Amino acid sequence: MNAPAKVMTAKHFLDLDAFDGPTLRKMIDEAKRMKAARKGRPKGALDDATPLAGRMLAMIFEKPSTRTRISFEMGMRQLGGGTMFLDGRDMQFGHGETVGDTAQVLSRYVDVIMLRTKRHQSLIELAQHATVPVINGLTDKTHPCQLMADVMTFEEHRGPIAGRVVTWSGAGNNVCASWIHAAVRFGFELRVACPPEASPEPQLMAWAKKESGKVHIVRDPFDAVAGTDAVVADTWVQMSEADQLGEGGTRSRHNALARYRVDERLMAAAGKDAIFMHCLPAHRGEEVTDGVFDGPQSAVFDEAENRLHSQKSVLVWALT
Ligand code: CP
Ligand code: NVA
Repeated sequence: MNAPAKVMTAKHFLDLDAFDGPTLRKMIDEAKRMKAARKGRPKGALDDATPLAGRMLAMIFEKPSTRTRISFEMGMRQLGGGTMFLDGRDMQFGHGETVGDTAQVLSRYVDVIMLRTKRHQSLIELAQHATVPVINGLTDKTHPCQLMADVMTFEEHRGPIAGRVVTWSGAGNNVCASWIHAAVRFGFELRVACPPEASPEPQLMAWAKKESGKVHIVRDPFDAVAGTDAVVADTWVQMSEADQLGEGGTRSRHNALARYRVDERLMAAAGKDAIFMHCLPAHRGEEVTDGVFDGPQSAVFDEAENRLHSQKSVLVWALT
């Protein structure tokens, strides 16, 4: 059993709904400033300012990662700090030690913890027991760091996101949930094109409504993309679902989502000014065709790059 949860005191970055719009806006603007300031510099070189000198980030991964791991490692390095990669399966954490005890131990060694977990509740428990900031590096429910990069990327391509329209086409998954949080906090309209069996959780839609957000479920992807500024796709089966869905479940998920694939026809309906976005990794030929992914409207590698800049901004916010 965990000890009773404490009141969270550190500056955690758990989910976007916990922030007000101006705080998130400041983080995005700071990320843009930091990106511009490093232009042309070798990737491993320090930033002009190194506010995280002497600080250490521990990253716990219960699931695979390319972007999250590498962007956090490079970000800490550029800011003057260090990182430690921890495979959740190798830790006592994966073998019976409670998340709360792990949080208290890590808080004695490191200055900030990032967790990628299969269980959102583990993130909450970690934050409740840690005395240092905890950052959500993806759970089965949300992926807020991705959305900081995505909002930044949208704005680099299309200008301020407030008042604009973004269309999600696919399963209402963890990344979609963070898009819903972002739509409300950054003030844009989000249309979620999805089949009934892969809709966002009803309480999430209820939250958006309560917050007066413009978030709508649209069943027809062609209706959803009319007049949109961006079309977003993600894998049809997320990492934490792969085992539980099995072969049959995966097949029926694919069948239900086939009409939501982002292909050339759907992008043409969105219009030539709409950008295509994807958090990656992509399953080419499933949720997106090669033509769209590699095409002129695609912003996917800018999104991947902006994970670095936006997370640096989050780290500085959390630690200074
Ligand atoms: N988008 C994203 O989080 O990628 P990784 O799984 O590679 O970290
Ligand atoms: N929705 C995907 C995102 C991967 C970065 C998943 O959870 O597998």
